[in-house]
Amino acid sequence: METIHATLEDAAEISAFLKELADLGKRQRPWDEAYVREYYIGNPDSIQCSVAVGDDGAILGLQSLTRAAEGNVYDVTPGWGIIGTHVKPSAARRGVGRALFAATIKAAQNAGIGNIDATIGATNGEGLAYYEAMGFRTYRSMNGAICKMLDVPFPSA
Ligand SMILES: CC(C)(COP(=O)(O)OP(=O)(O)OC[C@H]1O[C@@H](n2cnc3c(N)ncnc32)[C@H](O)[C@@H]1OP(=O)(O)O)[C@@H](O)C(=O)NCCC(=O)NCCS
Repeated sequence: METIHATLEDAAEISAFLKELADLGKRQRPWDEAYVREYYIGNPDSIQCSVAVGDDGAILGLQSLTRAAEGNVYDVTPGWGIIGTHVKPSAARRGVGRALFAATIKAAQNAGIGNIDATIGATNGEGLAYYEAMGFRTYRSMNGAICKMLDVPFPSA
């Protein structure tokens, strides 16, 4: 498995597994290709949008890191990072999320991001456990969601 930057050509494959997550009740937001292009890959506030690719070339997961803009829908402090992670159901619990996060944390450090917000549905046990494992801690809750934050560490030499 390797992690690389997502390109607009990846939208169809990403959209397909977002639909799988939606069908399983693990996603409430849109999953269509246009949304993937606009909100993840081509988001003007994007710092990095990474995909994990398996040995056979299939995309196994996506992680986006955007910079919180004034008035963002998550009400995150402007200038913080906002993270989102989506792993293909058949590839879950095989280290895809962990590999994506290793790439994202470097991008956050390079972009000078001090804090990252992860907003997770309060009943999404796997999402909560994943972000806890990545070092995020709860700092507030709102509208059925738990918000976790990470103080981005200085890069190690
Ligand atoms: C949450 C999600 C991103 C995790 O991705 P993943 O590739 O399965 O995670 P990893 O295999 O890298 O796991 C890393 C660590 O997270 C924790 N974790 C991940 N999935 C977990 C689960 N189902 N139950 C408990 N802990 C879990 C574990 O500590 C795990 O480490 P370990 O396997 O060594 O014990 C993935 O399940 C997913 O996309 N879920 C649906 C969408 C979603 O909920 N996104 C996040 C919130 S918006």
